[in-house]
Amino acid sequence: MIRSVFKGSGSALPSKCVTNDELAKKVDTSDEWIRERTGITQRYIAGEGETTSTLAVKAARNALENAGMTIADIDLIVLGTCTPDVTFPSTATIVQKELGGAGFPAFDVAAVCSGFLYALGTADSMLRGGLAKNALVIGAETLSRIVDWEDRATCVLFGDGAGAFVLSAQDVEEEDGPGILATQLHADGEHKHMLHTDGGPSTTQTVGLLRMKGREVFRHAVTNLAQVLNDVLEKTRKGPGDIDWVVPHQANFRILDATARKLGLGMDKVVVTVDRHANTSAASVPLAFDEAWRDGRIKPGDLVVLEAMGGGFTWGASLLRV
Ligand code: ACO
Repeated sequence: MIRSVFKGSGSALPSKCVTNDELAKKVDTSDEWIRERTGITQRYIAGEGETTSTLAVKAARNALENAGMTIADIDLIVLGTCTPDVTFPSTATIVQKELGGAGFPAFDVAAVCSGFLYALGTADSMLRGGLAKNALVIGAETLSRIVDWEDRATCVLFGDGAGAFVLSAQDVEEEDGPGILATQLHADGEHKHMLHTDGGPSTTQTVGLLRMKGREVFRHAVTNLAQVLNDVLEKTRKGPGDIDWVVPHQANFRILDATARKLGLGMDKVVVTVDRHANTSAASVPLAFDEAWRDGRIKPGDLVVLEAMGGGFTWGASLLRV
């Protein structure tokens, strides 16, 4: 059977790191409040000349190098973002050009913090369907450009960054062999008012700023993530005991902890970067994966579950045999 097999990953962070104490000089907040409520101690913020596409290009280059490939091998780019460089063309086409590629399909998917899971699911379908052979799947964001820096309840939570996977269509014989074993995606527009921007090209002709009802989002996140993780495990007849690593969307340490508890998993199986990266939206899952892949925690043959939840709401999970 044709599977989308993981070949390598890469990531990139902006050069400027902002600690909670530095932020507290500009915003009415404190290191103690942010740490206690979220686990965040610092975040990386894009500076002059850094955009979603420049971070995506760096992450993609690192991923290609890690996979032992070049842009000449790639015939698909799918990029998850809610902070594109411009309304159009897509950030994926900007990245394609910067990497020196041309001709093959390159497009963005918009699912906010679930953007990477949606991009992964889309690329996986296209690879298994024979529409491409080698895909770059990217999550890249500059949320710092759309948060309201006057709203202390949200601006302290987010950071910028990018992460990328290279996936290849490969004939795999064993059912439990390498590749994406299952993906489950969901959306429910009913809750759009809980996490949204207050403007956009077709309504206000502006970009709009991020607005969030944090408490309600927290409650939905824990329930939806535990459910989708159980669903994706059931689909593949696996149990929590089979999982080597969980790579969750890094929104809040308390959400990671509560979701792991619901599954009966210890935090020693959960990759955590929210303390240093904060919430980087669609970039957070591949950024966290790349860190654990490069430091040797995630190894070839491991069973890894990726999960995310974001505005919409959108949420999803993917089970990957590395
Ligand atoms: N510093 C100091 N005080 C603050 C800050 C701040 N940065 N922000 C809010 N407060 C105050 C509030 O004004 C409020 O004060 P009051 O009681 O005097 O009115 C108090 O702290 C409590 O505010 P809450 O918003 O109720 O705090 P809560 O305990 O719910 O924590 C938080 C807020 C951290 C946002 C939490 O609700 C959360 O993490 N929610 C999930 C958000 C999330 O994960 N979103 C991302 C998922 S999807 C995506 O990634 C886009």
